[in-house]
Amino acid sequence: MSMAAALERTAPLYQRVKSVIPPIEWPVFADDIDAILKLKQQRNAVILAHNYQTPEIFHCVADIVGDSLALAREAMTVDADVIVLAGVHFMAETAKMLNPAKTVLIPDLEAGCSLAASITAADVRLMRQKHPGVPVVTYVNSSAAVKAESDICCTSANAKRVVESLGVPEVIMLPDEYLAQNVAAKTRVKIIAWAGHCEVHERFTPSEVRALREDYPGVIILAHPECPPDVVAEADFTGSTSDMSNYVGREKPARVVLLTECSMADNVSINHPSVTFVKLCNLCPHMKRITLPKIRRSLETMTHEVTIPSDLAFAARRSVERMLAVV
Ligand code: 13P
Ligand code: SF4
Repeated sequence: MSMAAALERTAPLYQRVKSVIPPIEWPVFADDIDAILKLKQQRNAVILAHNYQTPEIFHCVADIVGDSLALAREAMTVDADVIVLAGVHFMAETAKMLNPAKTVLIPDLEAGCSLAASITAADVRLMRQKHPGVPVVTYVNSSAAVKAESDICCTSANAKRVVESLGVPEVIMLPDEYLAQNVAAKTRVKIIAWAGHCEVHERFTPSEVRALREDYPGVIILAHPECPPDVVAEADFTGSTSDMSNYVGREKPARVVLLTECSMADNVSINHPSVTFVKLCNLCPHMKRITLPKIRRSLETMTHEVTIPSDLAFAARRSVERMLAVV
């Protein structure tokens, strides 16, 4: 394939992302995008991309985009033979759990998550021993083995609803301590937390937020609930990545900052050119392992296939399905 032809075919896509990708960078992406679009057809594949993927992935090759909850729901209904998960490993595992007949590929097997790495199945069993009879609510940012030991999963979009759906006075909530504390602040249910943290969101501080308000009077501050509670307390709104994106679309603030991963602001700004984004953000090194060349290679070689050990699949899926049944 010649570069000139790839540039011509991808020109309409460049129009979409030109506000965040300088023209000098586009030739680096055009050939891979052109090849990926063809490979998707050849392999009968769809690409599910998380909101933290870079704009050339999110806006140019993805078929379905969203937060963890949306990606899980969409994964269930995918009709194509192959799902490429442009996101981190637990997201690919969830897609495989919910649609086991499909081939699920992740372009880089090392795309992990500090929360998922913070807890093992044995830790969950110990928590149950320490708190007998207390149900375990597990954030989807966790391994299949940990989900299999849990009663129900939750995401940042539905955590409070899931906790309250159980109708009990007390729950164990794993593994994100800050998400647990942020939910605890909004519910009467007592929450026993685990000391896992997101390495991206734990770095935001209340003094940073206060400095933003001084530097940009009137700025609206949106925070992900993986941020520490004292940061959430300083924000105007807290919600999942899609909740933040929807807030911008609904409220159209003149100036906004998203206290979350860096690609979010780029992706959302493309859809809302009238909004000014103050780009204070932290990069997720795991999400950034996924690149166009790796997606291309993944489709060329059909790697890396994500599988779930058969002894875990049923119980892990049950925890995710219970969550999806909560409206
Ligand atoms: P969301 O479910 O809000 O997209 O969050 C996923 C995640 O990993 C945030 O760090
Ligand atoms: Fe995990 Fe945090 Fe990266 Fe999300 S941003 S994938 S929670 S390390």
